[in-house]
Amino acid sequence: MSSTDLDRNLVLDAVRVTEAAAVAAWKLVGRGDEKAADQAAVDAMRTALNDLDIAGEIVIGEGERDEAPMLYIGEKVGRGKGAAIDIALDPLEGTTLTAKAMANALAVMAWAPKGTLLNAPDTYMDKIACGPGYQEGVIDLDASPAENVASLAKAKGVKPSEITVCVLDRPRHAEIITGLRTVGARVLLITDGDVAGVIHTGEPETGIDLYIGQGGAPEGVLACAALKCVGGQFQGRLVFRNNDERARAERLGLSDFDKKYSLHEIVRADAIFAATGVTKGALLDGVRQEGVFVKTHSLVMNSSSRTVREVRMKKLG
Ligand code: FBP
Repeated sequence: MSSTDLDRNLVLDAVRVTEAAAVAAWKLVGRGDEKAADQAAVDAMRTALNDLDIAGEIVIGEGERDEAPMLYIGEKVGRGKGAAIDIALDPLEGTTLTAKAMANALAVMAWAPKGTLLNAPDTYMDKIACGPGYQEGVIDLDASPAENVASLAKAKGVKPSEITVCVLDRPRHAEIITGLRTVGARVLLITDGDVAGVIHTGEPETGIDLYIGQGGAPEGVLACAALKCVGGQFQGRLVFRNNDERARAERLGLSDFDKKYSLHEIVRADAIFAATGVTKGALLDGVRQEGVFVKTHSLVMNSSSRTVREVRMKKLG
């Protein structure tokens, strides 16, 4: 399958899958049970995937085969005929957000031709991202937060104080946050959900210019698929806390543990990205019941056509 073979019809198939996961997770919003919400989303996503005419292989999923019975890395999904695709997914991005009925939980998935998504291990990744319209290299993972803000502000033609940076609210980011505030940037802290945090940089209406910080590596791959569709820049470097994590990376064929990956090294061909809101957020409305109908709100993007579609679905609940 060449990069142009990402059939347009797959776009609708992809969004059906995230819709199914979001509706399943929504039933557990606010119930305080992260595991149950995640499991419901996983089950629904797997069922929806297996109903499609694709030859899919999970490259970013719920974990390694021995620790995740479903949607594990290497699992084959779909009916086995049709397009051969790599699948990155997070049936519930924001398990805590869902359990606590907080904003911004999503069901997300990315598809790309077989062999073209980075097989990232379930470790952390240092990430930096900005939206489209800037010269390549305007941001750099190895530059300080202040330098990145200054560079982006110059490129945008504004003062550093007019740059808004999204950061996951974690103690490990204290130094980054101090650096950003020192240069006068506005820091928008999120409690969870850095796939959306990165995507926000590509959506001018969010007012977010830059994303900086350390989050999940799988989430980094998913976010790159979305940015590939809307434009923007991303750099990421895997972060290993121990030898077990290094061994995970080796098992996935990675050997350069210090590599700084660009967006196009993480997603090496055209991709489709789909996300459905579980709870209402800045990107999407959440699932809701209106009378006899259950309604969903999704985004589905296709990098080959550079299109972003908003999809609203209602079905008899
Ligand atoms: P889950 O949905 O798996 O809980 O992930 C939420 C999330 O906030 C991700 O968006 C982010 O990449 C990661 O967790 C950050 O990890 P940590 O909570 O360990 O800082």
